[in-house]
Amino acid sequence: MTDKYCVIGNPIAHSRSPGIHTAFAAQTGQDIAYERCLAPLDGFADTVRELIAQGYRGANVTVPFKLEAASMATRLEERARLAGAVNTLRFEGDEIVGDNTDGPGLVADIVRNAGVALKDKRVLLLGAGGAARGVVLPILQHGPAAIVIANRTRATADELAAQFAGQAAHAGQVSACGFEDVDGAFDVVINATSASLSNAMPPVPASAFCQGTLALDMMYGKAPSPFMQFAASHGATARDGLGMLVEQAAEAFAIWRGVRPQTATILEQTRQQL
Ligand code: ATR
Repeated sequence: MTDKYCVIGNPIAHSRSPGIHTAFAAQTGQDIAYERCLAPLDGFADTVRELIAQGYRGANVTVPFKLEAASMATRLEERARLAGAVNTLRFEGDEIVGDNTDGPGLVADIVRNAGVALKDKRVLLLGAGGAARGVVLPILQHGPAAIVIANRTRATADELAAQFAGQAAHAGQVSACGFEDVDGAFDVVINATSASLSNAMPPVPASAFCQGTLALDMMYGKAPSPFMQFAASHGATARDGLGMLVEQAAEAFAIWRGVRPQTATILEQTRQQL
């Protein structure tokens, strides 16, 4: 019998996840069906219960339901708990298990696809909202020299950095500042703000970039974002978030099916469809 999965969001018509998961299934010989699921803005929990009743095995969760998914889960994986957000659910008996593959997806794209090791590197993380929160731990696990979190609202960056200050393994590695205080050049600059959605960019100083900097925007589109253009014009190699999208999907697929798909050709195909 075909196992059913879906991606829940609102809106959802634009989602590329069905194409990506269907390609993973064909590649790995897994018998699954994966579709889009539009949940009413006030009806996420009911939608999940209905999917479980219909025998679905799991779901991805996207905007604006990632926080609600975290509070609805009966069990949270550690990385989802730290992120405070869930993008992957699996339905196991009475349990709704919440996980977050966004951060691991971002790191896989940087390390494997872009070929940039994070060990001993200086990483600048722009933004301190939901998207930023999920990537701090996965980056720390690769042993960077430092992660500096810069945010428009300084207090939110302070709070996020403080979450890691008490962890002996990461003492002194994570700090916070406002954009005006960003100092020196970084090996990796990640735009986790939602500024690109309104065709804007965070006010990061040009001095954050140099030849050899990898500048990664979590957003993607047909054209490079203002952040990517700015970074490239100051010597950085700019990369959009499509690789992260495909990698977070691969991680979710591996959680559900126990087999990890190859992502390179599927990333290429997905880009051609933009
Ligand atoms: P998401 O889940 O996409 O992270 P979010 O939790 O609302 O969404 O967080 C949005 C992030 O983008 C925040 O860090 C926000 O900064 P504030 O905390 O100061 O609101 C940041 N952001 C959004 N638009 C921005 C802009 N034009 N310039 C700089 N930062 C911006």
